[in-house]
Amino acid sequence: MGINIPSRVLFILCSIIILVTNQATTAQRFLYSSCRNGRGNYTTNSTYQANLDYLLSNIVPSKDDNIGSYGFYNSSYGENSDQVHAIGLCRGDIKLDSCRRCLNDSIHMIREVCPNKKEAIGMYEVCMLRYSNRSIFGLMETFPRYWRASGINVSSNVDEFFQELRALLNSLKSRASTASGTLQNFATGNVTTPSFQSIYALVQCTPDLSQKDCNNCFDELFTVIPECCIGKIGGRVLGPSCNFRYESKLFYEPIKDVVAAPLAPPPLPTNTTATKGTFRFFILFFLGL
Ligand SMILES: *[C@@H]1O[C@H](CO)[C@@H](O)[C@H](O)[C@H]1NC(C)=O
Ligand SMILES: *[C@@H]1O[C@H](CO)[C@@H](O)[C@H](O)[C@H]1NC(C)=O
Ligand SMILES: *[C@@H]1O[C@H](CO)[C@@H](O)[C@H](O)[C@H]1NC(C)=O
Ligand SMILES: *[C@@H]1O[C@H](CO)[C@@H](O)[C@H](O)[C@H]1NC(C)=O
Ligand SMILES: *[C@@H]1O[C@H](CO)[C@@H](O)[C@H](O)[C@H]1NC(C)=O
Ligand SMILES: *[C@@H]1O[C@H](CO)[C@@H](O)[C@H](O)[C@H]1NC(C)=O
Ligand SMILES: *[C@@H]1O[C@H](CO)[C@@H](O)[C@H](O)[C@H]1NC(C)=O
Ligand SMILES: *[C@@H]1O[C@H](CO)[C@@H](O)[C@H](O)[C@H]1NC(C)=O
Repeated sequence: MGINIPSRVLFILCSIIILVTNQATTAQRFLYSSCRNGRGNYTTNSTYQANLDYLLSNIVPSKDDNIGSYGFYNSSYGENSDQVHAIGLCRGDIKLDSCRRCLNDSIHMIREVCPNKKEAIGMYEVCMLRYSNRSIFGLMETFPRYWRASGINVSSNVDEFFQELRALLNSLKSRASTASGTLQNFATGNVTTPSFQSIYALVQCTPDLSQKDCNNCFDELFTVIPECCIGKIGGRVLGPSCNFRYESKLFYEPIKDVVAAPLAPPPLPTNTTATKGTFRFFILFFLGL
């Protein structure tokens, strides 16, 4: 008994530590990089490199930046053929601190795996960073893209699951692209299928896109679903201009429903039909109808 209790406590403590460190590493996991070899090289110690160094050292938001920029960072530096452009994007639900850490890690990682490349892109679990010698601001691009699905199959009612998923993603797409230009091009939502399976999803496009481009970007990435994700309980597809992810469990911080909060009618029924109705309400509201 006397030994039993402390060891149980120790076990619980260890479990907590493992859980916490696991979450920390998951959040920062490097998923994908592309060095864009065809886009040219710069020479070591060139003006281009100096400009890139300067630009990247300044794209990580400062500690006291308010999250008012919604995780989108965009900057250019230099003259003529030595001009460098960069875009950083953090997932819409993460805190400034994690965003800073993720962008900083991305910079170091990309510079390491893509030395002397004029253009490169790196994607982490919660942020994306890209730079190039061409202007990339406001440009809708869906390549290079990264996708990965869960190893676990939807256990039953697969067709129903993917019908509901598509409906959910389309609703989120409308919401994210309608908010285009306001820097809030991020939407999350969940549904429960008629056979009681839960689906949670997140979509985000870069806020420099027009509403039309944001929409088109999602449409293009959604076409990857049959290839990547059919039958799987979770999956994600990431591109330079937009990304989405779905899981059967909650995986995002359900806090930043900035648009939803003031508009939602008070007691919301929490099933699929209700969700769709709410989205319709948003869209009508935005169109001023
Ligand atoms: C970027 O660099 C590549 C390779 O050096 C070059 O072909 C291209 O014209 C440059 N683009 C711009 C916009 O300067
Ligand atoms: C850039 O450098 C790589 C080697 O790192 C080389 O294979 C490639 O041909 C170079 N590209 C250009 C356009 O010079
Ligand atoms: C680049 O500059 C650094 C520091 O000035 C120097 O140590 C290095 O040898 C230079 N590399 C090349 C390839 O010129
Ligand atoms: C991003 O960069 C472009 C081009 O340099 C500039 O016109 C635009 O105002 C910037 N937008 C933001 C949100 O920083
Ligand atoms: C950025 O990352 C580098 C290397 O990974 C690290 O040494 C540095 O402390 C980090 N800076 C911030 C502000 O997190
Ligand atoms: C998942 O489904 C696929 C195709 O239906 C099948 O090949 C695979 O063995 C299944 N995997 C598991 C872990 O059940
Ligand atoms: C989404 O999930 C939360 C619990 O995580 C639940 O409270 C809420 O009712 C769900 N919403 C919908 C529309 O199913
Ligand atoms: C959804 O909620 C509405 C209103 O509460 C209810 O009438 C409807 O039967 C529910 N649908 C499902 C599929 O649970």
